[in-house]
Amino acid sequence: MPDLTALAHPIGDALVSSQGYDVEMIRRDFPILGTRVHARSGKPGKPLVYLDNAASAQKPRAVIEAMSRCLEQEYANVHRGVHYLSQRTTDAYERVRDKIAGLLNAGSREEIVITRGGTESINLVAATWGRKFLGPGDEIIVSVMEHHANIVPWQLLQSERGIGIKVVPCDERGVLDLDAYRGLFGSRTKLVAITHGSNVLGTVTPAKEIAAIAHHHGVPVLFDGSQAVVHGPVDVQEIDADFYALTGHKLYGPTAIGALYGKRGLLEAMPPYQGGGDMIAEVSFAGTTFREPPYRFEAGTPPIVEGIGLAAAIDYVRAVGLDAIAVHEHALLERATAGLNRIEGVRIVGTAPGKAGIISFVMDGVHPHDVGTLVDQAGVAIRVGRHCAEPLIERFGVGATARASFGLYNTLDEADALVEAVAGVKEFFA
Ligand code: ALA
Repeated sequence: MPDLTALAHPIGDALVSSQGYDVEMIRRDFPILGTRVHARSGKPGKPLVYLDNAASAQKPRAVIEAMSRCLEQEYANVHRGVHYLSQRTTDAYERVRDKIAGLLNAGSREEIVITRGGTESINLVAATWGRKFLGPGDEIIVSVMEHHANIVPWQLLQSERGIGIKVVPCDERGVLDLDAYRGLFGSRTKLVAITHGSNVLGTVTPAKEIAAIAHHHGVPVLFDGSQAVVHGPVDVQEIDADFYALTGHKLYGPTAIGALYGKRGLLEAMPPYQGGGDMIAEVSFAGTTFREPPYRFEAGTPPIVEGIGLAAAIDYVRAVGLDAIAVHEHALLERATAGLNRIEGVRIVGTAPGKAGIISFVMDGVHPHDVGTLVDQAGVAIRVGRHCAEPLIERFGVGATARASFGLYNTLDEADALVEAVAGVKEFFA
């Protein structure tokens, strides 16, 4: 077990007393999991089976309490006050940076920019590094598996700067085509921006190999780690990532908080992102100078309470153990995959080896929206649609999918409940 006494925000009793992976004890740390849905007059409703974690995960009491405690007892603006509360809040907020650096094994806390989410992290790189280093005819490489957050910022730059965007394909399983990737490099390739984990297919991309290939060509790599960081341990130094984006709300933390890891040399070469308070060294009408990274990229009052919530979430997942979470979710994935594969007419989209706990699927003759609506009647919350990854959905020629995504608190019984609910959909349309 980790040293829980070192945690800034104590976690629930559950983990302290558990020796193994005790999912029932973990569940007790998440108040919302006791919810019943679709209660009707006289009937208590169905127990919630929350399988929409890739969209946003639920929050443990430790996160909720850390945020409440901040608002009730230790709230003031940060980096600006000499008074007691401001000092206390600043200390707590700056610990967030340490927690994120620890989670990613960054070389230093100065390599962590706190942002409002994964989307903002990628936009920051496009708007600063991109505008400075990319010009007409330069090229970047993305993959067909990208979330829109790792496509559209580059398209905006394409309109502005005339850059080219090359796309790495994947095979029918959802495995990235590394040979095709190698073939996309040319003399004008300036950046690779690729997901570390597909939010639709669950594919975990070979980040270390992707980075090594890019570095062989002298090209930096940005990983969209919004999904990957949730499902298992990530070490940016081991991967040799140049940039790594993550978001808090999928990591059992609050919304409107995220981070960008950037190697120190890269961040130092980048101009500011947004202008305002806190990011400046000196301001005058004759000219303004900027602080060193990461503060140069953090204009305005930051997401203080959300940051403190994220720190608690990081403590929580690290206390459970990201390795243990990966093993647990793999068991859920296997159980649900086997069950869904037994239902005639159901096809899983995305079968890459070593995939994370995300299952997209389609059902013959039934629209995914109908699947989602009907399983919801059984209390099972999944996402349906195109999952902010339209090029990938088009690649698989399916129009839309239903998607179940597992989190650290899901149980084998819930995997079975998903299968049973999907089987019920089939019967409904039989
Ligand atoms: N990107 C989130 C998802 O995959 C919203 O559902």
